[in-house]
Amino acid sequence: MAKVNPYQVEGKVDYDRLVQEFGITKLTPADLKRIEKLGGELHPYLKRGIFFAHRDLKWCLDEYEKGNKFFLYTGCGPSGPIHLGHLGIWRFTKWLQDTFDTEVWFQFTDDEKFLFKDLSYEEIQKWTHENMLDVIALGFDPRKTHFLIDTKHAGIMYPEAIKVAKKITFSTIKAAFGFTDSNNIGSIFYTSMQTVPVFLPNVLRGEKRPCLVPLAVDQDPHFRISRDVVEKLGHHKPAVLHSVFMPPLVGMEGKMSSSDADKAILTTDDAATVKKKINKYAFSGGQATVEEHRKKGGNPEIDIAYQWLRYFEFDDKKLKKIHDDYKSGKLLSGELKAILIEKVNEFLAEHQKKREKARKEVEKYIFKQK
Ligand code: TRP
Repeated sequence: MAKVNPYQVEGKVDYDRLVQEFGITKLTPADLKRIEKLGGELHPYLKRGIFFAHRDLKWCLDEYEKGNKFFLYTGCGPSGPIHLGHLGIWRFTKWLQDTFDTEVWFQFTDDEKFLFKDLSYEEIQKWTHENMLDVIALGFDPRKTHFLIDTKHAGIMYPEAIKVAKKITFSTIKAAFGFTDSNNIGSIFYTSMQTVPVFLPNVLRGEKRPCLVPLAVDQDPHFRISRDVVEKLGHHKPAVLHSVFMPPLVGMEGKMSSSDADKAILTTDDAATVKKKINKYAFSGGQATVEEHRKKGGNPEIDIAYQWLRYFEFDDKKLKKIHDDYKSGKLLSGELKAILIEKVNEFLAEHQKKREKARKEVEKYIFKQK
């Protein structure tokens, strides 16, 4: 049985089971139609089931139609370099920002990573800065994007966090995250900090807008808890959009992680490294010999090069042709990998340029109270 919570993702994830277990709702074709109607287009990640489930999306869109626009909230735990798995969620968030013309509140949980990882406070600060560059490089609108860094914005966050914390028991936290009595006491408190941005913008401005949280499904347990609590504090429950995990290079199990640099491609990897990693590690759904492959064809469902192309090739027709050619045996594993390598390197070349430019833009994004 796969384990999925914010601090552990192991095994082959059965998303239908997770929907049951977490009590979330699968996105239906009707939901997608509605998003398309309201936004004017549909992101490939929605068409392809990469974002696959939600909480309260209908309510959030109802409010939108009534003129009460939502704000977006997502975040980053700064404990290492950014990999392509992180980027998927954030690229989608940026699309939501552009499509619905909304604010984005972006939380950098330096407190969380300090408490959960064996890293010094100084190392975490370095990663916070580096990770901000990746977020900025994706092109979020600086006038509508606000970075919250937990230890830096403690002055506005802490008074709200204690209100949240007062309504959560230790046993709730233990059950949700699998903690024991030997967890440090900061880690027990942390969920309250991740809850604050759900309503902080409304508190600061005296508004009551819906909050929509795009996330990878492992983060849902935080918000399952948040939803109960914030309502007791007089705020709306946040709506949530859940994404599956982009699979690690080595195969469909678990999730990508920066700590296993060999299994992930980092946003700072150069073209040669990308090529080497994909050729060496990307799990292949192809057959053992060319002859056999031509005869039986490959399996795109487990082939990482194909699975990753679903994140990078936005042209549906091209992607379908790659899928069909691979399945029929016309396209070989090495050729499929070459297509991915080119796509990823094209993306990263652009990203790395913007990432360098971002060094001068950080201040514009950090939230400042007027
Ligand atoms: N806890 C998340 C992580 O470890 C970071 C985060 C904070 C987050 N707030 C969020 C992620 C809201 C998604 C949505 O990466």
